Amino acid sequence: MTTSIVAGYDGSPAGEAAVWWAAAEAERRQSRLRLTYALPLPFMSSPLGVPTVPLPTERLRETAEHLLAELARRVREVWPELAVDAVVTFAGATQALLQEATTADLVVVGSRGLGEFRDLAMGSVSAHVATHASCPVVVVPPHWEPGRTGSGIVVGVDGSKRSLEAIEFAFEQAEATHSGLTVVMAWHDPVSSGPDDPLPLVYDLDVLEEESSALLAESMAGQRNQHPDVPLRAELVHGTAREVLTEAGESAELLVVGSRGLGAFRGLLLGSTSRALVHHPPCPTAIVR
Ligand SMILES: Nc1ncnc2c1ncn2[C@@H]1O[C@H](COP(=O)(O)OP(=O)(O)OP(=O)(O)O)[C@@H](O)[C@H]1O
Ligand SMILES: [Mg+2]
Repeated sequence: MTTSIVAGYDGSPAGEAAVWWAAAEAERRQSRLRLTYALPLPFMSSPLGVPTVPLPTERLRETAEHLLAELARRVREVWPELAVDAVVTFAGATQALLQEATTADLVVVGSRGLGEFRDLAMGSVSAHVATHASCPVVVVPPHWEPGRTGSGIVVGVDGSKRSLEAIEFAFEQAEATHSGLTVVMAWHDPVSSGPDDPLPLVYDLDVLEEESSALLAESMAGQRNQHPDVPLRAELVHGTAREVLTEAGESAELLVVGSRGLGAFRGLLLGSTSRALVHHPPCPTAIVR
């Protein structure tokens, strides 16, 4: 079965970074690379029923195809053996990438696109894709450059089922890339999430820390046995998950988190830690489900 990695491209610096990250990963995995450029049709409507202006959609498509073909050519210059498909679709980027995700092994997007400011209000494509995709999603920051190496892979663990999926993904990635793996658990004093969630009257910080430490060891036990050759470190760090993982990710080559965690809000598809990291990834960041 052929495997494929999809990269969403929109002409932005982060979109470009996503393509190069995806290409290097596809080369390593010997997967096909699918460069996807989604072109939402500019809609011209008129309130008074005056006929709409026909748009030069063929011209748009040709321009997009040309841009994507040129990008594919540059990728093949670096990796001549890599199978690259260039796909232009007339659809919204979120819709197109979610469709691609149904058959891909991995979808790679930039952390922000061209519509940076509009996206702030509307929710960005990367956040929507990371929230709803059926496969893991890697979000690449605009400052990432090909060939950039970091000090290994970092995975965030909170003891939840989703974070176990993240650990599995991280171990496999570490083994395949001969990287070291740091398993990080952030812990902090209890905080109330609202009026219905009262703080415990008495708590002992030493006990909390001990419990977190035990949970951390337990979380990685299974994968550790299956991947004995991966150089491993476990870190229990005081702070919020968002702060701790952002800092740990700054010098990493890849940060891995689950789409959800232990959070109490059952309806959420993307927890607040993952959401924050999707918006401001410190390095290429995988959201696993
Ligand atoms: N304390 C933590 N230490 C390390 N990693 C964490 C921690 N909390 C969350 N993570 C990582 O982030 C992923 C998503 O968890 P997140 O906190 O975003 O979701 P949630 O708990 O369901 O939602 P919320 O916390 O907003 O209620 C987890 O699977 C895990 O990889
Ligand atoms: Mg959480």
